[in-house]
Amino acid sequence: MRVVREQAGRAAALDAADELRAKRAEFVLDTPDEPDGTVYLDGNSLGALPRTVAPRLAAVVEREWGLLRIRGWREAGWWGAPERVGDRIGRLVGAGPGRIVVGDSTSVNVFKAVVAAARLAGEGRDEILVDAGTFPTDGYITASAARMTGRLLRSVPAPELAGAVGDRTAVVLVNHVDYRTGRLHDLPAVTAAAHAAGARVVWDVCHSAGALPVGLDAHDADFAVGCTYKYLNGGPGAPAFLYLRPGLQPRFDSPLPGWNSHADPFGMAPVHVPADGAARGRVGTPEILSLLALEAALEVWDGVDLAAVRAKSLALTDFFLHCVEEYVPRGRVTCLTPVPHGERGSQVSLRCEAAAAVMKELAARDIVGDFRPPDVLRFGFAPLYTSFTDAERAARALAGVLGR
Ligand SMILES: Cc1ncc(COP(=O)(O)O)c(C=O)c1O
Repeated sequence: MRVVREQAGRAAALDAADELRAKRAEFVLDTPDEPDGTVYLDGNSLGALPRTVAPRLAAVVEREWGLLRIRGWREAGWWGAPERVGDRIGRLVGAGPGRIVVGDSTSVNVFKAVVAAARLAGEGRDEILVDAGTFPTDGYITASAARMTGRLLRSVPAPELAGAVGDRTAVVLVNHVDYRTGRLHDLPAVTAAAHAAGARVVWDVCHSAGALPVGLDAHDADFAVGCTYKYLNGGPGAPAFLYLRPGLQPRFDSPLPGWNSHADPFGMAPVHVPADGAARGRVGTPEILSLLALEAALEVWDGVDLAAVRAKSLALTDFFLHCVEEYVPRGRVTCLTPVPHGERGSQVSLRCEAAAAVMKELAARDIVGDFRPPDVLRFGFAPLYTSFTDAERAARALAGVLGR
């Protein structure tokens, strides 16, 4: 009991000192700051709803769609939304203006990026490397891209990729943060190794965008893809984004050259002439409603320093791990997430027996995390709205479920 009082007191002190604390009020969290509310630790799957979204979406539907109708494309700025929202995301992933286009799903963007990267590769580069722990969709699509472009697919554990890339490698596909373990991979080192070997790298930043500084420009990433429904809080099915390094944009040969990526989309020419810039990554008509919901959601990031986000993320996951160690009987869980800060994303994954049933029990106690088969409990810490009190309550509930 004394231990619980101590940790709960520490959580309250950490919350009081949290410089991002005011951001929490900008989200719909069912009972914010009430001791019995739901603890939402699933923002690494679906981010919480920012309060800016509902009124903006209502205005888009009622005023722009309802009254402007077709004029909305020009008068409401719908046409330019994929690049405009892309620039807004750019600030959060270290990409300058004109490098990101928003649209389609992450899966579709993986396809565009991997095929385009393979098309850039020189003679004799007959293999594509994929991080062995990749999120499945990236693996499936990269395998298909390898078949389509006549390459062999080689699966390599991410920490070994820098050593595995060689003069046969056309493309390397890597997840910046492993979705199962929460391990952060070394984006600067893998990118530099790929470039030294003459290969291109495609980064999947789904689990790092909005969780930590990514530095796409600074580290010379070639292409990157990411979703916007996790830490960027864009909502269910929000469109994904595609980053194209400026120097590669003129040579980005999309395997899906739809009319929206045409230099003159309304010219209706029979032959595709690619647009300049990030618009080259477009395919068809943009998902305006979800794109504008995302744009409103991104307003919560105004003035937010990614270094503060990273510092809070690490403090939250450190504190959660500390509470788990204090509360949970020894041997009941094994931490899969690396302890060193340089190797940790913004989630904690715990291996545990009967993990599916344990997560169900936690949900019954108003703690929402998720389960990944066969035995992993995942807890995501979204720094803009997760509190240290949430972390303490989740660890305490876990200990309760596991029999203390
Ligand atoms: C690393 C990673 N890549 C891709 C995806 C899914 O992509 P899509 O937006 O196509 O569903 C996810 C979804 O959770 C993911 O975690």
